[in-house]
Formats: sequence, structure tokens, C-alpha cells
Amino acid sequence: MIHLKDFWRTIRRTLTVFILGTTVAVFTCQAINPPFVIKHLGDGQSIVQIDEQKKFLLLPVEEASPEAKLYMIADNDVVRSMNVRLAVNKVDYFVPVDLTGFDNKHLSFNFQLIPDSALCWEEMKLSDEFDVSNREKYRPVYHFSPAYGWMNDPNGMFYKDGVYHLFYQHNPYGSMWGNMHWGHATSTDLVTWEHHGDAISPDALGTIFSGSCVVDKDNTAGFGAGAVIAFYTSASDRQVQSMAYSLDNGKTFKKYARNPILTSTQRDFRDPKVIWHEDTKKWIMVLAVGQEMEIYSSADLKSWTLESKFGEGQGAHGGVWECPDLLELPVEGTELKKWVLVCNLNPGGPFGGSATQYFVGTFDGKRFVNESPAVTKWMDWGKDHYATVTWSNAPAGRAIALAWMSNWQYANDVPTRQYRSANSVPRDLSLYTSEGETYVKVTPSPELLKLRDKGSKKRAFKVDRTYNLDKLLNDNSGTYEIEMTIKNKDADVIGFQLFNSKGEEVEMYYNLAEKTFTMDRTESGEVSFSKDFPAVTVAPVEGGNEMKLRLFVDKSSIEAFGNDGRFAMTNLVFPSEPYNRISFYAKGGSCNVTSFTVYKLGLK
Ligand code: FRU
Repeated sequence: MIHLKDFWRTIRRTLTVFILGTTVAVFTCQAINPPFVIKHLGDGQSIVQIDEQKKFLLLPVEEASPEAKLYMIADNDVVRSMNVRLAVNKVDYFVPVDLTGFDNKHLSFNFQLIPDSALCWEEMKLSDEFDVSNREKYRPVYHFSPAYGWMNDPNGMFYKDGVYHLFYQHNPYGSMWGNMHWGHATSTDLVTWEHHGDAISPDALGTIFSGSCVVDKDNTAGFGAGAVIAFYTSASDRQVQSMAYSLDNGKTFKKYARNPILTSTQRDFRDPKVIWHEDTKKWIMVLAVGQEMEIYSSADLKSWTLESKFGEGQGAHGGVWECPDLLELPVEGTELKKWVLVCNLNPGGPFGGSATQYFVGTFDGKRFVNESPAVTKWMDWGKDHYATVTWSNAPAGRAIALAWMSNWQYANDVPTRQYRSANSVPRDLSLYTSEGETYVKVTPSPELLKLRDKGSKKRAFKVDRTYNLDKLLNDNSGTYEIEMTIKNKDADVIGFQLFNSKGEEVEMYYNLAEKTFTMDRTESGEVSFSKDFPAVTVAPVEGGNEMKLRLFVDKSSIEAFGNDGRFAMTNLVFPSEPYNRISFYAKGGSCNVTSFTVYKLGLK
């Protein structure tokens, strides 16, 4: 049965294994009777027939290879297709194709665009196991990251019966963008996550792009009271909107038979965010369409009426608008509430590439009106804060947001392999007013306090001295929070460096005259994987002589929250070892660090 070339390869491998003197018996036996047959058809096409029941076909990936097209066939029907960067010269890692659920069917694969000489033919294997234990030094400890494969936008976040659900743009067949599925994870505390595999997979309408979920308490759609309904973009050559519903709290979804529910002649037409509008008792869908948002309404979640468009002449337009959100938030210190339209933008962010802008105003169920069209507002002033959306149905009226912590300029190139990308820490949103203008305040969610270890230290700090954080924390994991208050006397610039023994550092400073906070990651460690990565990001800060700052440091990120969330700045960093030292400086005068606490952070 075995192809001659494969036979010689098999013999060669067996001999190599024999010479190396390792588990000869196991390998020999597997090689002589391979559980699949490979038939090359010429012109880069091959068929692989699976002859043994195993859970996974493990495919070797080489990220530098082009994508090969694979069709999975059960008996004679295509049941799945995917693009995989199959190994041609070397294996970077393996990805699993789930073979379960096809009992009594003969499984085979049709491979296209992959040469007969490629390494993948020798390396692919059947297995009942796929090892997801962490192999990455940059994998965050307390930020959500996928067990394996690529992740971008958070999707479909909803809360129900004490559980926070998080879905996300997932490629299960590689750690670069492609084959979009909705991955799924749950948490009861927003910091400890359980992975559940993919909840919504590509179909004949396309791959599954970003979107949202609602809990249909009153059964307006007719799928049942309390059904969880997902809205997503089906993406092929064209983008259309689809829905799926879950009757088991998001564990499994059934796609609505009459998809798509909304179409357009526009090419960029995506990322449905659905909310309930109490005043008009209607569902509202906001869609990103080119450089505008379209607002639709519906009584039954299935048929939608276009109410208005928003965007022309408003805010930043350096790229397409994506991943909208629409929510009503209280204005701090008043009885007022205002509407916020969140609009992610790529490219065109303040420091290049992706960023989250927002508009504050009114919404009457039909039309959003921006109260200050002349001002562009950014939710975060770092380079790695994108696709921000909030949880639907969150408890106690909270508005809890999550961002994808990367930037399309280099997201595919960051130095991790087993997985790529993590989310920001969860953040509670509210509004505050400064000099007549209303802004979003971004506060780290209170659940993050739970990560603080008891062994944390409060210190009296002196400027112009270096402190060793490892010693203060009795720990060198590099995952900590620093909370500090600085009082300026007469300095022009007050700052500090976080650094390690390799001379890698991140510098942060306040410029009191210019009223700015800056984070400089140009010397932060591995920066050369993209010309856009070494960057200096700057946030405007309000005046005043007292500066409060909270810094969340994880294995490959720093998030800064100033003055109780009046500014936020999120940046990735890839130090070769953790930043375990800090030293303060003041220029042109002096200041006091009146309080400084460093907390070790970790999951319990
Ligand atoms: C934003 C985005 C969305 C789209 C998704 C595809 O990062 O481009 O607009 O739905 O990613 O993965």
C-alpha cells in the first residue's frame, strides 16, 4: 500500500532512529505499518488516507512556508477546509486537526500547493494527544492567551449565571492570522480562564470574523428564553452578517439556517455589536462599514432596519473602522449618563497602526450624535491596545472592556511560536469631565486586586537610587504591579527606568511643562522583529503636582494607568530577562515619591 518513495523514507527514518539508539521498537513498528497512506498526484497535489482511529492528525508547520490548502474528507464529502503553512524545510511546531466525530466514516485529506519533497510528508503523524503545556517564556501569567495558535480580537463576550464568557478570533492551524474561528474560554473572576476549544467554525459562507453575543432573556428571537445569540461576520470574498444560537450557555452553537441576516455591496462590512436599547425596547446593531458605523434596529434579532450612519468628518480616519461598541456610561460626580461609541481604527492610531478611538454623545435608538466633533479621543495611548469591546449583560451595570494587546503592524511577527497574542487586563469604563470635555476613564478591574501576593512590599523611595525588585518581592518571575504616588516640588521632568542586568530598559517619565506621560520601549529587549516595534508613546496628562500611577508588568507587556485611569497606556515588551530593577530621577528640580508599593502578581 505504501508509496515507494515513502517506503524508502520510512526505512531511512527507521535506520536513523536505530543508529541514534533510541526507542527503536516503537518507531520501527509504527514506520513499517503507517496508519495513513500518502499518494502524490503531481503538481503539488496529494491525498492522505487515514487508516487508524486517532483523535488528531498532527501537522508540522513552518511559518516561513506559504499556505497550503487542505480539504478534510469524510467518505466522499468535504467536511472542513483550512490553510496551513506546512513544513517544507523545517518544523517550527505542530498543529492538531481534530478527527473526532466521524465514526464509521473513512477520513482522508486532499492537500494542494505542497511539493512532494516537502518535509511535512515525513513529519505528520496521528496521535491521541496534543501537548498544550506552555513552551514560551513570553507567555503572560495573568493575561488571557490562547492555549495554542493565533489570536486577535476578543469576540462575543457575555456574562451569564456567574460566568464570564470570552470568545476570540482564533487560528487553530497556526500561530499566524488565518482560518478564523471563535475560540472560547470562561472565567468566574476575569483573571483565571478555562479553555474550551473552538465554539464557532468556518462554513460555506466563510470564516468567522469578529462579533458579539447577547442573552435573549425574553425570547425575542424565538430560540428560547435565555438563549445566547452570537452575531458574527461570515467572511469570504465578501463580508455578510450571520447569527448562531446556543441553548447550553455558550458551550455549543447552532448556526441560524437562514444566514446571512444582513448583506451589503460594501467590501468592508463587519464586526456586528448588538445591544439592547431600553428606551425604544429594540435591539441595536452597530456595524463597521469602511470608515463609518452603520446603526440598525430590530425587534427579533433576525430582521434589521438601517437607522443611520455615523462617521463622516468625525474623529480619526487614517484607516478602516472596525469592531464598534455602543454603551451608556455614568459621568463621575453627576447624575448624568452619556453614550459612548467605541471605534477601533487600523491603521491611523496615534503612534502608527491600530488603536481605539471613541466618541461621547447622545443616542436615541436611531442616531448617535457626537457632542464634540472637533476632538479626537483615544482610549489608550500605547501601541498595543486594539479591538476593544465590552461584556454584554455584565453584572451590576458594569462596563468591562477587554482589548487585544497587539498591533496589526507586527502582530504576526512577535517573538512567540506556540501561540501569538494576549489580551489586555480587564478594565472598567466610566466617564469623567475635564475642562468641559467628557472622556472615558479606564480603571483596571477590581478583580485584579486578587492577583496581589501577600509578600508585597511598601517602600519609602528615594530619587536617584536603584532598587532591586527581586529582593523586594523575594521573587524573580517578572510579573508584578507597582503602585506609586509622586509629588513634584519644582522638577521639569520626573521619571524612572525599569531595567534588567542585560541593560534592557523601559523608561517612563512625566514632562511637567508639556503635561505628558511617556513610555519609551526602544531599548526594551527584542525589538528588531519589526521596524515599527521600537517606539515611544506619549499620553496627555492633566496638570497638578501629584501623580498617581499603577503599572501592570507581565512576561511581555506593561500597562500604565495614570491618575485613577484618566489615561491608560499599553505596550508589549520582550526583555530577554525580567525587568527587576527600578531607579527614579528628577530633572531641573526635585520631587518626592511619597508612596511606592510593589506587588507580586500571580494566579492562585
Ligand atoms: C480587527 C479585524 C476585524 C475582523 C477581524 C478578522 O482586528 O480586522 O475587523 O473581523 O479582525 O480577524
